[in-house]
Amino acid sequence: MTTSQPLTNLCLLFGGTSEEHEISLRSARAVRAHLNPQRYAIYHIAITRDGQWLDEKNSRALLDGEQYEVTARGPYLPSDADVVFPVLHGPGGEDGSVQGWLEMQGMPFVGSGCLGSAMAMDKSVTKHMLRSANLPVLPWIDISISDWQDDALEVASNIAQRFGYPMYVKPTQQGSSVGISRVENKGQLTSAIDKAFEFSDYILVEPASEGAEYEVAILDGNVPVVSLPGEIEVDGWYDHDNKYNNDNAKIIVPSETISSRMAEQLRDVALKAFRVLRLEGYARVDFLLNSKSGRFALNEVNTIPGFTDISMFPKLMQHSGYEFDVLIDKMIDFAMANKPASSKIPSRQIVETVA
Ligand SMILES: Nc1ncnc2c1ncn2[C@@H]1O[C@H](COP(=O)(O)OP(=O)(O)O)[C@@H](O)[C@H]1O
Ligand SMILES: [Mg+2]
Repeated sequence: MTTSQPLTNLCLLFGGTSEEHEISLRSARAVRAHLNPQRYAIYHIAITRDGQWLDEKNSRALLDGEQYEVTARGPYLPSDADVVFPVLHGPGGEDGSVQGWLEMQGMPFVGSGCLGSAMAMDKSVTKHMLRSANLPVLPWIDISISDWQDDALEVASNIAQRFGYPMYVKPTQQGSSVGISRVENKGQLTSAIDKAFEFSDYILVEPASEGAEYEVAILDGNVPVVSLPGEIEVDGWYDHDNKYNNDNAKIIVPSETISSRMAEQLRDVALKAFRVLRLEGYARVDFLLNSKSGRFALNEVNTIPGFTDISMFPKLMQHSGYEFDVLIDKMIDFAMANKPASSKIPSRQIVETVA
């Protein structure tokens, strides 16, 4: 006779208040489709665009694209939850806020903790951390909204003295290329900066690095798995439309053009960045190659990368020998082993299932 293991009560947390709400739903549907029903009982928790946490029935309806009611309430977890899988992209989900709340609940969850998530969400903080660890990043200028409001002319002249065109202007805390502009000339700079400030009170400007883009996936463990680099082949730059709304971008796993020496360097830098930023669980680390100089720079680190069947992270891990369902099992096992539920935290007692 076989003894069946009790199911793990897993909360899938998705949606969220960021610009990437819709992308989160796509990722969450893919994760749900690969969760083994023999292992997991799934609780759905949707966060609406305006920050309401929905009950099971309405969360499921939202994910399935059906009619749902907003049963207004703030953060909650079912009282018998064992582990949480946040599949949230962008601010308010990938930035340490939800992770800090889960840490306060003493609840194990997949992925990086509050500190690492917060650092990696902010492109400028990431660069400061990596530069101080001597890891390669492009030069950049930080601009706050108050600098810009106080003296836009001075800011623009500083930028012009430091970098030539083209440049990239980015909100420090966004994803999916939202609010980012490639600036080809002086005439485009002011409107690009104004646009970036629509999404964040801090932005950065950096020179364009013309060349290939590579991405490396990391799966944490006693011996972390670091994938070979994949390559983004895109006509133009990897803007929001090229990411999600057309077929202009191709994901090539593994990259066929990178030398094995450079592939090793990227993997080495990716793992060092993972450690410097205190990341846990998994991450995708993205690089830009400058084809003129032959040098690469680490562009950004994603603590909750896109997770659909055609996304780079699962494809890179598949190439490293981890099929999607095995990959998420590993991520959940890692979370439960390394962030065990805390019995010391009294607030766990008041967390309840919603009727
Ligand atoms: N300095 C740069 N040089 C060349 N391309 C860049 C640069 N910065 C960003 N890009 C392009 O913009 C895309 C989105 O920028 P990124 O910093 O990765 O932000 P996001 O978090 O929105 O993905 C990159 O994938 C790349 O195509
Ligand atoms: Mg990116």
